[in-house]
Amino acid sequence: MTATIVSAGYLSARNAISAAVLRLLREGRLATASERLGATVEEVLRLQSGQTGEPFPRFAQTDVELAGTRIRAGDLVLVRLEAAHLDPRHFPDPDAFVPERTSSPSLVFGHGAHYCLGAPLARLEVAAVIGAPARQLPGLCLAGPAESVEWVRDGVDAGPKALHVTW
Ligand code: HEM
Repeated sequence: MTATIVSAGYLSARNAISAAVLRLLREGRLATASERLGATVEEVLRLQSGQTGEPFPRFAQTDVELAGTRIRAGDLVLVRLEAAHLDPRHFPDPDAFVPERTSSPSLVFGHGAHYCLGAPLARLEVAAVIGAPARQLPGLCLAGPAESVEWVRDGVDAGPKALHVTW
């Protein structure tokens, strides 16, 4: 149990934080992140959660019909949570980074029985890291072109291998 919490809690948060900082720097929104901190955390996690988007496997408990497809009890269902975050019915102009959204239903931390144990901590960690430079280092920027940032994948997590900044 301890190993699961440490492994689930370390890489995920590390990648979410560095991916969030990179996204905010690219959007030119890091300096103003603290103005709408909670909403900015939700929006940046929606678009840049630090996860690869690999589907989480689930097995149907009962026969069910989903969007016109019949799924039988016992069938394997591969759910891509990130697809929900790009649903234009819930997020108009879904690819755009808009911390001013009034509604942001989130599946970043899953749903139901396996809902992320560390969700409140992860939100707090991202908020602490993106809120601090906004207050203390408003001139923070990338030290090189964003395109040269190398990404690494580790299981379901993905994030910048290193993020060089200057101010
Ligand atoms: C931004 C960072 C994080 C993201 C995006 C994230 C995402 C997720 C997701 C999507 C799940 C559900 C997996 C499934 O449905 O099978 C999950 C489960 C889990 N997460 Fe996180 N997580 C994050 C941070 C953390 C942290 C900081 C911890 C611990 C301190 C943690 C501990 C866990 C554990 C133990 C589970 C398994 C829960 C269960 O199966 O009952 N996560 N996480």
